[in-house]
Amino acid sequence: METLYYFVLVPMVYIAAAIFFIGTGARLVKIFRAPKHPATLQIFPEKEPKWLLALVDTFLFPTIRKHKPMFWIFLMLFHIALFLLIIGHLELFREFSIFQIIPHNVFLGQGFVGLTLSICLLFFLFRRFLSPVRELSVPEDYYLLILLFLTVLFGSQMDWARTWYEYSTVAAEDYQTYLLSLLYFRPELPESLMYSGHSFMLLLHVFFANLFLMFFPFSQSMHSFLSLPMNKLRRG
Ligand code: HEM
Repeated sequence: METLYYFVLVPMVYIAAAIFFIGTGARLVKIFRAPKHPATLQIFPEKEPKWLLALVDTFLFPTIRKHKPMFWIFLMLFHIALFLLIIGHLELFREFSIFQIIPHNVFLGQGFVGLTLSICLLFFLFRRFLSPVRELSVPEDYYLLILLFLTVLFGSQMDWARTWYEYSTVAAEDYQTYLLSLLYFRPELPESLMYSGHSFMLLLHVFFANLFLMFFPFSQSMHSFLSLPMNKLRRG
């Protein structure tokens, strides 16, 4: 069992991070070096200011809001929660005073960031079981959503245990020791990460997170890097 914990929490994280960064970089280089599209992708009539409109299209999804308001609400909630989640994971490395404008302990949102993400992912998943989205879905769509849901659920379990049920067997400092040791290539696993009540959830969380990171460059999640350039092309 110890070997399994070590493998998932150390070498597998390095493998996942390497595939994530190299894979994403290589795909972006390939896309941006591809020959220019022969036909224009621009929409008409042209409107100004183009950059601002491209930013609005990218972050506020006005077309979706108009045609699918319910889907839009879940999309907005999901992306806001994702943003807070990235901040939360950065804070697992060390404290950043800028994020302490709203004083909090490790994860912003008192467990509700994870809850929001879980509910949104269930909505996105079940939406794909119904026509007409069902006919437009491929297995990869389901695979990605299930993978994300499992990652989010096991991560949230740890936060909910700590925040809502006052069950805490791993201190924030232990996470910091572990993640910084990975960053400096001197892997160290504090006892609490390996042998406490949180250990198994952590193992499952990091295992599914690793799978997600490895899958990322080859999945539709790449849209996070391509959405703004694409909207700028459309706006001219
Ligand atoms: C190898 C990469 C990752 C590591 C080492 C990691 C580690 C952690 C840790 C230590 C926690 C805190 C648990 C606690 O509160 O006690 C956590 C929470 C969480 N993680 Fe991750 N994580 C990783 C990647 C991801 C990814 C890719 C996602 C999803 C996209 C994710 C989603 C979450 C969620 C939703 C929470 C709970 C947040 C909340 O309730 O506010 N994690 N993670």
